[in-house]
Amino acid sequence: MCGIVGYVGKRQVVPVLLDGLRRLEYRGYDSAGVAIAQNGTVKVSKKAGRLSELEEVVPYEEFSQATIGIGHTRWATHGKPTDDNAHPHQDCTGDFTVIHNGIIENYAELRRELKEKGHVFRSETDTEVIAHLFEELYEDNLEETMKKVIARLEGSYALVVVSVRDKNKLLAARQDSPLVIGLGKGENLLASDIPALLPYTRETIIMEDGQLAILTEDSVTIKDIKGNTIEPKIFHVHWDDVAAEKAGYEHFMLKEIHEQPKALKDTLAGRITEDNKVKFAEGFALTPEMVRDIEKVYLIACGTAYHAGLVGKHLIEKLVGIPAEADVASEFRYRDPLVTDKTLVVVVSQSGETADTLAALRESKARGARVVAVTNVVGSSVAREADDVIYTWAGPEIAVASTKAYTTQLLALSLFAIYLAQERGKEATYLLEEIKKLPEKASRVLETEARIKELAEVIAKHDDAFYIGRGLDFAVSLEGQLKLKEISYIHAEAYPAGELKHGTLALITEGTPVISLATQPSLYEKTVSNIQEVKARGAYVVGIVKEGDEKINEHADVVINIPEVNPLLSPIIAVLPLQLLSYYAAVARGEDVDKPRNLAKSVTVE
Ligand code: M6R
Repeated sequence: MCGIVGYVGKRQVVPVLLDGLRRLEYRGYDSAGVAIAQNGTVKVSKKAGRLSELEEVVPYEEFSQATIGIGHTRWATHGKPTDDNAHPHQDCTGDFTVIHNGIIENYAELRRELKEKGHVFRSETDTEVIAHLFEELYEDNLEETMKKVIARLEGSYALVVVSVRDKNKLLAARQDSPLVIGLGKGENLLASDIPALLPYTRETIIMEDGQLAILTEDSVTIKDIKGNTIEPKIFHVHWDDVAAEKAGYEHFMLKEIHEQPKALKDTLAGRITEDNKVKFAEGFALTPEMVRDIEKVYLIACGTAYHAGLVGKHLIEKLVGIPAEADVASEFRYRDPLVTDKTLVVVVSQSGETADTLAALRESKARGARVVAVTNVVGSSVAREADDVIYTWAGPEIAVASTKAYTTQLLALSLFAIYLAQERGKEATYLLEEIKKLPEKASRVLETEARIKELAEVIAKHDDAFYIGRGLDFAVSLEGQLKLKEISYIHAEAYPAGELKHGTLALITEGTPVISLATQPSLYEKTVSNIQEVKARGAYVVGIVKEGDEKINEHADVVINIPEVNPLLSPIIAVLPLQLLSYYAAVARGEDVDKPRNLAKSVTVE
């Protein structure tokens, strides 16, 4: 996730900005930059790569008297991690300089419009349109211009502007991306996250959606979009530096679990058109003719991403009617797969660097297949080598256990399946309205956290657990058991519910936890029969079912409800309680949740 820092006061601004950016490094980034206001100009230094590379190019001497500026670390979304795409961005005149976190959904239209008016673009980013909009719409008042600019933007933003037209001031706006103001004495600051503020102040204002902020060294004014002044709440930060990095959560994993509603919203941004069609823009060039030629789809990945691939297989077969297979990359690459130029291969990888997934991608291309990548990292090896890319805009995932990467992979694959259906003349758009509601439904599930924590404390006392489900519920069960074992070290296995009696039922004894998913109406009765089988052997049954399901109460010891959702989309919601369950079981057992033993975040060796 990108990092933002802004400062106005009396200190030398360059060290303040660089220190602030360093304090936001844990969020992940691929390029960095600063803009410094001095002597009636704003100058930008920016560089792809680590902060140390930026430090080498910033002209410290030249800016030794400067006391106002902005800084940014970028996690690429639109355009690769290059010097030009790094923030800050300026308009044609250099009068308006902006940094931005979030996604401007209508940037392509705005860019076209601004180019027609003669604006010259230097980057591929969505952010640069904002700088040119300022230039285009400015009359004689920066604050009024900010309002006009915002009125043209669709999407999410934490936006900061510094301008020679209104010196000694920083202007900021927020919509769906975090922005915090630090209140100092004779100085004020802005940041995307609290750690950047802590050396200077613990008094903060957490900006809310739809608010604007005007900062000078002596004042902070918060306004609504109509220009009415708002009395902000002051939030005193009592966290230490480490807690602040996790936004007060005990672990990155818990923070990332809670980031899922936003990650889903971001992954959806700009991908459903006004006439209810799915579109993928940047990096995606699969034509309707190519889609019509596909005879088979392979979804290839490892670990959690493979579990996402299993869901993708169901969706493609159901919605598009093309045979689809999910395969583990380390198996696929060595088994002489039946891949031809009529095969579409979809590789799924959060990091985009997993060695086996990359090898499977190369093997598929060598055999003539077209390869679509679903990945979270712009410019990763998988993204560069695939023919088409669909990004999951989850932001960096720091905990080893994948959470928000998984749900955004599911969302990206759902959109992709609908896209394939649409291009092959099949009706699947009925799912789009449901898809738009997923972020809100995810938030509702996360509100049940306290109950799941209690349940986790029971599960944590066991050494074995089983997960059962049918169809898509089985695919989610696989992810649930992986999550539990990798961080809590409880032995866990997932089975298709109908398969238990072929052997594994022998392991079900008094009190064995069996987490049973029954969210698929067409398979519900069958699954309930399987739940009865384990219950009859003494299992401690946890039922994950939809709201309103009364029948499950007869068979389950504990029931976790998820909101009503189309069965094809239910994995995105049903996995959330399983993530929380694993997290709290690991915490109850005192394990190192974010860095489980023997595991690495990115597996770049075979
Ligand atoms: O970066 P990738 O998505 O390619 O990683 C694949 C797996 O290593 C990964 O999904 C792993 O299984 C999860 N971190 C487990 O939570």
